Amino acid sequence: MSDSENTLSAQSGGAQPREQWSSRLAFILAATGSAVGLGNIWKFPYITGENGGGAFVLIYLLCIATIGIPIMMAEIMLGRRGRQDPISTMKHLARESGHSRSWGLLGWMGVIAGFLILSYYSVIAGWALSYVPRMASGIFTGLDADGVNTVFSDLVGSAESLLAWHTIFMIMTMTVVARGVRGGLEKAVTYLMPLLFILLVILVFYAMESGHFEQGLSYLFTPDFSKISTKGVLTAMGHAFFTLSLGMGAIMVYGSYLPEKTSIATASIAVAVMDTIVALLAGMIIFPIVFANALEPAAGPGLIFKTLPLAFGQMPYGDLFGTLFFVLLVFAAWTSSISLIEPAVTWGMKTFKYSRIKMSVISGLLVWFAGLFTIFSFNLASDFTISTSITTHYGEFVILKDATAFDFLDYLTSNIMLPLGGLMIAIFAGWLMKKEYSKQELALSPFWYGTWSFLGRFIAPVMGIIVFMNAMGIIAFFESILGIKLDAFFRSLF
Ligand code: TRP
Repeated sequence: MSDSENTLSAQSGGAQPREQWSSRLAFILAATGSAVGLGNIWKFPYITGENGGGAFVLIYLLCIATIGIPIMMAEIMLGRRGRQDPISTMKHLARESGHSRSWGLLGWMGVIAGFLILSYYSVIAGWALSYVPRMASGIFTGLDADGVNTVFSDLVGSAESLLAWHTIFMIMTMTVVARGVRGGLEKAVTYLMPLLFILLVILVFYAMESGHFEQGLSYLFTPDFSKISTKGVLTAMGHAFFTLSLGMGAIMVYGSYLPEKTSIATASIAVAVMDTIVALLAGMIIFPIVFANALEPAAGPGLIFKTLPLAFGQMPYGDLFGTLFFVLLVFAAWTSSISLIEPAVTWGMKTFKYSRIKMSVISGLLVWFAGLFTIFSFNLASDFTISTSITTHYGEFVILKDATAFDFLDYLTSNIMLPLGGLMIAIFAGWLMKKEYSKQELALSPFWYGTWSFLGRFIAPVMGIIVFMNAMGIIAFFESILGIKLDAFFRSLF
């Protein structure tokens, strides 16, 4: 690591000297650790399966390139210039460019979004955790689809089990957070990230042996645009924010530890590329196995938990590879969950003058408690659902249908708060921040600065607004008033 920066120096904007990553590589690993998580390995495959495969993947890739990377650059840039928690950073930068301190609200929304996401993220990570001893014990060997389903429904049906696993995962997360950036975060990701890549590649080789590798690949990479819907396009856009950890200040906080000389563009592209590779590898592992066992790609959120153990249970050395797979998933979720809570912790440390350890314990307990809503939504309170729809004289447009507390939290955060946060970040960085500042921070050639500026000022905000309006039901509302169907429009584009 030749570009090591071992001295801790006082930074512009921040009141106190601030810790920094020890090298550019450490930042890239940490940001990749944040980006790569359940979103890539659990969510990407199931939403791909629900939206018909190749065409969805193509649109998702376009979203990563045109909105994901520019917003990531903007978020890192704001973080590094502000050098504080997202709330103080936004206030400080707004003042610096002559705008209202109410931009601090953006930081607030991020802290709350991170909290809410972690509350359910930890429960799902708990599922993965509980599959490690299950796989290792060999109970899936030779089990049929019904048997595997029973294992899954027994798990989610038991509030006690979910609570236990959620508790363990929260302790794991808060232990790393409490140890701080250099001590905890950086060490954890330096070892976990490379290990993750190695495990994934081993599993891809394994999937190649499944006999249905080609079918899996063609499902992922051959676009069939007749399968794409407005919902698919918008899900792809929303997921671009989620998978890159954008829109809530996580990457902003990581950026705040970034040394001055590091190129933000190079780091952003590296992170986005690695995140995308992991998602595609996960798809290349999962779909061949799905097809080899005549499973249903559109099985929903339970996809990997209901189908993979079945496949692993039928294959030679399945227990070993299955165990590795879930260990890998837990690692990936762990390095992501850290970044979901880090903004709240840095903010609390500064605001209340609490130590890192004290603030970690407090916020960990709060998130743990909020997780109870998700836990009970799978069992005790599964009947407690909400539905919202808009009725016009063209018919009824459903926004949320029978959503449990978990569905609602996922929807509120991924479809509303993150796109809104990403949109505001793009507007702030592209329109409100003085150009001389963004030029200085990004240090790009005029051509690339122009490209970033165009994507950040125009494309990203427009896409952000569309995702947000769709989530709020506004698009369905206009469709109904105007009597048009955007689905047909999107299909006609290709
Ligand atoms: N990106 C992570 C994943 O794909 C989840 C995550 C971590 C996240 N930090 C975030 C999502 C911040 C949104 C915002 O699993």
